[in-house]
Amino acid sequence: MKKIEAIIRPEKVEDIKEELNKLNVNGLTLSQVMGCGQQKGWKEYFRGTEVILSVLPKVKAEIIVTDAQLEAVIEVICKAAHTGELGDGKIFVYDVVDAIRIRTGERGIGAV
Ligand SMILES: Nc1ncnc2c1ncn2[C@@H]1O[C@H](COP(=O)(O)OP(=O)(O)OP(=O)(O)O)[C@@H](O)[C@H]1O
Ligand SMILES: [Mg+2]
Repeated sequence: MKKIEAIIRPEKVEDIKEELNKLNVNGLTLSQVMGCGQQKGWKEYFRGTEVILSVLPKVKAEIIVTDAQLEAVIEVICKAAHTGELGDGKIFVYDVVDAIRIRTGERGIGAV
């Protein structure tokens, strides 16, 4: 199992959720975050306007997937999150040791 942590533009969340549902990936955690990348947030466009801020609002999506699903999920996130402008975001991938569905006690992939 892998954890995908994608930092994306807030306005891309619905598109990404829709694409993930097509892959039968339904579980995810979303957080509103503030961040900066190589430009330290400067001179990016936020909702069509150039903003001068040290950090910009982004959404962090955390998704646990099977190893087999990983590349397809990365691909749809990249496609749906892409505008070609600075600040499109970033994806980090982590190994996941275990998962537990609290209701049933299932462990591992069966709990995801
Ligand atoms: N090295 C990093 N560590 C943690 N979070 C990061 C890192 N780089 C980017 N982020 C997060 O991703 C968001 C988007 O980053 P961004 O897409 O601007 O990266 P970038 O490297 O500057 O690429 P680009 O040149 O395309 O803008 C940031 O606001 C921040 O929340
Ligand atoms: Mg940037």
